[in-house]
Formats: sequence, structure tokens, C-alpha cells
Amino acid sequence: MSAATVDIHLTDDDLRDALREDVRRGLTATPKWLPPKWFYDARGSELFEKITELPEYYPTRTERALLERVVGEIAEIAQAEMLVELGAGSAAKTRLLLGALSAAGPLKAYVPQDVSVTALQGAADEVAEEFPNLAVHGVVSDFTATLDNLPRGGRRMVAFLGGTIGNMVPAERAEFLGGIRDVLEPGEQLLLGAGLVIDPAVLVPAYDDAAGVTAEFNRNVLHVLNARLGANFDPEQFVHVAVWDAENEWIEMRLEASRAMTVTVAELDLTVEFAAGEQLRTEISAKFRREVLESELTAAGFDTERVWTDPDDRFALVLAQRR
Ligand code: SAH
Ligand code: AVI
Repeated sequence: MSAATVDIHLTDDDLRDALREDVRRGLTATPKWLPPKWFYDARGSELFEKITELPEYYPTRTERALLERVVGEIAEIAQAEMLVELGAGSAAKTRLLLGALSAAGPLKAYVPQDVSVTALQGAADEVAEEFPNLAVHGVVSDFTATLDNLPRGGRRMVAFLGGTIGNMVPAERAEFLGGIRDVLEPGEQLLLGAGLVIDPAVLVPAYDDAAGVTAEFNRNVLHVLNARLGANFDPEQFVHVAVWDAENEWIEMRLEASRAMTVTVAELDLTVEFAAGEQLRTEISAKFRREVLESELTAAGFDTERVWTDPDDRFALVLAQRR
């Protein structure tokens, strides 16, 4: 039996309504696009975990090695009583943080949050088993919608790892960071993991691996639309594309129609035409320069306390304090 509790702030009906709105907006826009949160049904979350083990996908193992190195320092500075983790997924790397925060002192509670109920339940149960002295309280919600439903109590640290901040465009990042600032008390902390701008020769293969796992992850959004909205996409007719946008300094994932197609989305009464070669944007993954991270945090109401990077300068962990 699990000691973890999970609060569902996003019911199946809420999810369906949000998906309907996003799909109608995104597939009737020019160019067509979809928000990345819809990758993560149970299969999408599993595919993401597989991505983290790919030889080309350096972010997860780089962030893990960095955490291993500096987690003691983070814990000493933070002295957190509650760790809230946004977009926690499987919370694999978080165990390092939980171990160090427990060793450093007062940690009492862990609150993993995610839009993916399957990923969250699994992570919450495993952490509860591994850390029997911690109260583990999962929250299923959309971090782009509201953070008001996150529990309070004790000195908190919010962690947002994996570089997921890069899956937002700058205006979304400003709103998101401002939302975290609004739920924190002055002096409470944010630990942010972010990918840095590196050589595209390393970056692009991380999003276009030889085994085709990222391609399958990308196409999974079409499976989600088929299953949840009665769409009739033929995912195999969409080719995975990953391009480095040097101006915006982000990787863009797209799905390219291999031929002209008419797709219907039954639940929306929507017919969508794809021209041969037309591309649907499914994700951006922005990479950062250190000074940009710090200035975005300052603008959102945080003071940067420490920045740690790996020896190859591929990934950064930033500890910031709510002003
Ligand atoms: N933090 C983990 C997982 C990163 S994958 C790591 O570092 O490896 C991104 C996670 O964010 C997924 O688990 C996904 O379900 C979640 N996610 C994506 N968009 C979200 C949203 N809008 N609200 C809440 N969770 C979201
Ligand atoms: C979750 N996020 C940080 C991943 C990334 O690298 O942007 C999602 C991903 N997309 C393709 N591969 C992994």
C-alpha cells in the first residue's frame, strides 16, 4: 500500500475541454501548431523516459551528474521543509535532491506536480516507499494554468528540472515564472534546470536520435488526438523533423506531412487539410545563455543566488530566491 496521496485538479473532462480548445486553435492556425503538454499520455511519458536513456540525449544525464556534484550545496543553502516539483515526471533525478535535503535538515514533505496522472502516481508511490519519513502529496494540474492549488506550509523550494522551462516561448516563461513568484513567500526558493546554448552538431541529434525514439514521441501527439478526440491521423504519414532555429536559439520539433491529407477530428466536427510537405509545430526546446536566465529571473521577482554548470557548459542549475 502506498503512503502517497494524489490530488486531481484536472479531471478527464477538464483535460478533454482543454485539449479540444488547443486543437481547434492550433490546427486552424497558419502555420499549424500544438502545445507540447499533449505528448504526455501514459505512452508519451514512457517514451520520454526512453529518450532520457538515449546516447544522443545528453540533458538528463548531464543534469543528473551536475545534481550529484552540487546537491549538498543546494540543500545547505535551501534548508527547505517542503520540496514542490513542477513537471516532475518520473522524479528520477529528484531522489538526489530529496536525499540531500533530508540529510541537511528539515525536509518534511515532497509535492510532485504533473499533467500526466500515470507518471505522477508512479513517482509519488516510489518516492513514498523510498523516503518513508516524508509526506508525499502529488498534484495533477497544468502548470501553465494555475499554481494556486499547490500546498503551503513550511519553508518551500520549487524545483523545475529537466530544461522544461525551454518548452515555453519567452512570454509564456515570464508568465510562468511570475506565477511561481506569486505563490512563494519572500525568501523561499526556486531551483531551475535549463539547457544551455551549445554546438548544434550535438544539440540536433539529441532531438533526432538514430533509433527513432524521439520521432515516435513526436508522433505520439497524433495518437493522443486520435484516441481522445476521434481524429483519424495516420501518424506514419508524418515525418519527424528537428531544426535548430539560430535566431531564437531553440530546437523546433515538427511533424511533416509526407503527402497531401485530409484529417477529420470527429469530436470537434473539424476537417483539416495538410498539403504535401506542410509542417505542424509540436514543440520548441529553447536553450539559454546564462545572462538571459538571470535577467528573466530578475524580471520575474527572483534574486539569483548560485548558478552551477557542468564541465562542458551544456546545462545549468540555478538557485534563486523570491525577493
Ligand atoms: N522533470 C522530469 C520530466 C521532464 S519531462 C525530468 O527532468 O526528467 C516534462 C514533464 O512535464 C512531463 O512529465 C510532462 O507530463 C510534464 N508537463 C508538460 N507540460 C505540463 C503542464 N502544462 N503542466 C504540468 N506538467 C506538464
Ligand atoms: C521535457 N523537455 C525538457 C524535453 C526537451 O528536451 O525539450 C522534451 C523532449 N522533446 C524531445 N525530446 C525531449
